[in-house]
Amino acid sequence: MLLTEDMTASGVDPAFRRDILAGLAQSPKATPPIWFYDRRGSELFEAITDLPEYYPTRTETALLERHGADFAASIGPGRAVVEFGAGSARKTPHLLRAIAPAAYVPIDISGDFLHASSAALASAFPGLPVIPLVGDFNGPLALPAAIDGLPRLGFFPGSTIGNMEPDAAVDLLRAMRRLLGDDAMLLIGMDRIKDRDRLIAAYDDKAGVTAAFNLNLVTRINRELGGDMPVDGFAHRAVWNDDKARIEMHLEAVRPLYFQVAGHDFTMDAGETIHTESSHKYGPRDNRLLLRAGSWEPAEAWTDAEGLFSLVLARAG
Ligand code: AVI
Repeated sequence: MLLTEDMTASGVDPAFRRDILAGLAQSPKATPPIWFYDRRGSELFEAITDLPEYYPTRTETALLERHGADFAASIGPGRAVVEFGAGSARKTPHLLRAIAPAAYVPIDISGDFLHASSAALASAFPGLPVIPLVGDFNGPLALPAAIDGLPRLGFFPGSTIGNMEPDAAVDLLRAMRRLLGDDAMLLIGMDRIKDRDRLIAAYDDKAGVTAAFNLNLVTRINRELGGDMPVDGFAHRAVWNDDKARIEMHLEAVRPLYFQVAGHDFTMDAGETIHTESSHKYGPRDNRLLLRAGSWEPAEAWTDAEGLFSLVLARAG
């Protein structure tokens, strides 16, 4: 059997085991959102992006479609576009068409996904060097030598930055600044603070897809860590935390629970939750503050007419 660096001989990712055991042992219980994205979780997330209530993806895509001429004027041609967490890279063609880049470097932790989407992009943009990089952009990374000497544009769409605590977001922005170099630019998607009901609906849709996405974590823990968490013992909750300007997703125990994960015992009272994700929302001043703290100087921002979502362009500070 071929073992990847991340897997033990038992097929368990040690980082997953460590994060889940630590998260269930702490009070209040909380687990990092990166672990939503097994195959099923990634499929469910793709389905979320098409939901009527989930406005971020379609709003950001429309901004990318509409503002091509602005990107061309403000960014110019000849940059190496480095996309962080490229995934299916569905939004990228709009940007690449607009700015005539010199190369495209999509970075993603999932090699399968990355190679499939890179191949599709390479055939849609003949002549553009597409150099996929498998890796975790939250850890140390080295850019491919093929883009040495080219000015870079970091592309971080989707408001993924919102899933980080503000201090971790600042650390990541600084790491991007170091990686991309002095004359770099960054185009980043940021979801905005808005009406509470609109936000909650986006994270608690009528069809129950977001609930399935949240509950899939329980299924994954049971399968990969030998757990016996009762899936029907948990309910999906989406809560707006106004103090922290974030939507929180929780798995709430609907009755007193006792379960095991990887041989460790856990109990939960009825009503107790596991906090599984935060999605921070940034007003216009907040997003500038965050970027400046992360060593980027905001230059321009494009926002839809309803003020739901912004794409912000920043220069290396
Ligand atoms: C990936 N990320 C930006 C999504 C968000 O909106 O925070 C993840 C998500 N969680 C529930 N719905 C979507």
